[in-house]
Amino acid sequence: MPEVLRIENLHKRYSVESTAVHALKGVNLVVHQGDFVALMGPSGSGKSTLLNVLGCLDRPTEGSYHLGGEDVSKMTDDQLSSIRSRYLGFIFQQYNLLPQYTVVENIEIPLIYQGVRLNADSRDRCIGLAELVGLGQRLDHRPMQLSGGQQQRVAIARSLVNRPQLILADEPTGNLDTKTSHEIMVMLSRLNASGKTIVMVTHENDIASWSRRIVRMRDGEVESDLPNTPEPIDFSGPPLPMHLLEEAA
Ligand SMILES: Nc1ncnc2c1ncn2[C@@H]1O[C@H](COP(=O)(O)OP(=O)(O)OP(=O)(O)O)[C@@H](O)[C@H]1O
Ligand SMILES: [Mg+2]
Repeated sequence: MPEVLRIENLHKRYSVESTAVHALKGVNLVVHQGDFVALMGPSGSGKSTLLNVLGCLDRPTEGSYHLGGEDVSKMTDDQLSSIRSRYLGFIFQQYNLLPQYTVVENIEIPLIYQGVRLNADSRDRCIGLAELVGLGQRLDHRPMQLSGGQQQRVAIARSLVNRPQLILADEPTGNLDTKTSHEIMVMLSRLNASGKTIVMVTHENDIASWSRRIVRMRDGEVESDLPNTPEPIDFSGPPLPMHLLEEAA
């Protein structure tokens, strides 16, 4: 499978007043298309820092980062926003939906960042994604009117709207109960089975067990990187609408 991303000897240092924090200390990581990586490790080990660099939300202090073959370590801020909106989908623990917007409008947001003119076609696409995550009957609801699991499903639909090469998720089930977490993981696993590449930070072994690969961090370094065999998933239900997920021709 082709490489989606490659980081080499990546360092991240923060300086807060006179104190320096060395949050990443020479991390190497290659992720291939179709991978489903769980990033684990104790609090403060650098998981979110790494995910932020992978998401082009923050820059490495040292080392290289290639995303889809492009060297992002040297890009300008504008180039970073552009690659972010073309290549990446984000799912956060806190969902990060805009409260004044409806479900379908929240799903449209990455298209606006990408500079896509919203029209009937883009609206249909967003409705299709809302249906994909089981919210076809909730298009005009606002986040406040949805449960946590439903809000996270909106966030999953939003993360897919620009047909990203890579989905980055930071504790996507961190605010959800066990049953709802299970539903969200089934959804992510189905997306992975349909070819989406996912890197997900989690504290929980139960959640990591859905992945195909577990990378453990400690003190800013990769401590272990091992394949994982997820439990077989019951994929009953209609097949995923691949035209909504695949790269536009
Ligand atoms: N913006 C920042 N400024 C200064 N130091 C930071 C910043 N962000 C993170 N750090 C420090 O970098 C280290 C790694 O933090 P990071 O947030 O990546 O850990 P984490 O593994 O995600 O932890 P958690 O599991 O608690 O979310 C910590 O020592 C943290 O205090
Ligand atoms: Mg974190």
